[in-house]
Amino acid sequence: MRYLPIVKLKPGMVLGQDIFNGEGKMLLKRHFILNRKYIDALGKYGFPGVYIDDEFTVGIEIEQVLSPEIRCHTLKMVHDFFLSDDTELNGREQEIEEVVNKIVNEILNDGDVMYNLMNLKAYDDYTYFHSLNVGMIAALIGAHYHMSEEELKILVTAALLHDIGKKFLKIEVLNAKRALTKEEQKIVRKHPKLGYEFLKRNFDFDPSVCEGVLEHHEWNNGEGYPLHKSGEDISIYARIIKIADVYDAMTSKRPYHKELCPADAVEYIMSMNETEFDPETVKIFVKWIAVYPVGCEVKLSDGRRAIVEKNTPDFVLRPVIRVLDSGEVIDLKTDVDARHLTIVGMQN
Ligand SMILES: [Fe+2]
Repeated sequence: MRYLPIVKLKPGMVLGQDIFNGEGKMLLKRHFILNRKYIDALGKYGFPGVYIDDEFTVGIEIEQVLSPEIRCHTLKMVHDFFLSDDTELNGREQEIEEVVNKIVNEILNDGDVMYNLMNLKAYDDYTYFHSLNVGMIAALIGAHYHMSEEELKILVTAALLHDIGKKFLKIEVLNAKRALTKEEQKIVRKHPKLGYEFLKRNFDFDPSVCEGVLEHHEWNNGEGYPLHKSGEDISIYARIIKIADVYDAMTSKRPYHKELCPADAVEYIMSMNETEFDPETVKIFVKWIAVYPVGCEVKLSDGRRAIVEKNTPDFVLRPVIRVLDSGEVIDLKTDVDARHLTIVGMQN
């Protein structure tokens, strides 16, 4: 399969992934043959692109951090959690525990999978997809931080609920198709505290879950909010959620900003190491997040183009690639003849 932006889709192309909406409902199934009507609908929904199957990319498959069933279940749980009012909160704690247990089990059983996904979410369902992605990235970092099962459960719970305070903000502000005014920004910055208070008031989560939610906008150098904590005073759960949150937000297409490609988002995170982000967390993050995700088209320094076939942790700049037209497979990490060849950009 390969990733294609919506504008490059053509009728007759075959979908290479199941597509869900933010409630976890399946919209289109893998192998569906796209026509003009569905391509336009995907664009209107706000999906930046999709994976398609074609002859050239047979055998290129993305190993996912979590199975589609768990991702879909998580979306539904997060969606219901965000939309339920105070009278419907009974039982929600068990629901979240159930999802978190599944995520942690999967991460512990198969934690050596890199995060290789292009960020595919619809505009209006941003919050639910974002919560899921932050949960997945945080779980991956936590597993490689060698957290215990109990610690991972705390981390994933806090990650899935990190923005729950936004349920108290006006939808017009949250989904505004423009930059926010100063006053609106001030209101939005209240969401960590609102989320913390909501969780404390209604549930019996481990106190570290609430702390992770409260501190997820703190900066390593103390310039974040709301408590202006710094360094190791910030909960480790919040330090991990922080990096997952920024990465996912930057690589998301939003009504008021274009998505960055993973390489640019990773570069930003590296540039803010120690100022915005905790160095230990950055170290793990850059090892396990694919700079050029599998299935993406890249430009090579000799002018050729290729599809990324496989990534290896620690060598994220030099994946295995399949050159367009010739079909030549080059392992940029080990192939001696290719040592002068570099990736100079990604098509997104
Ligand atoms: Fe947030």
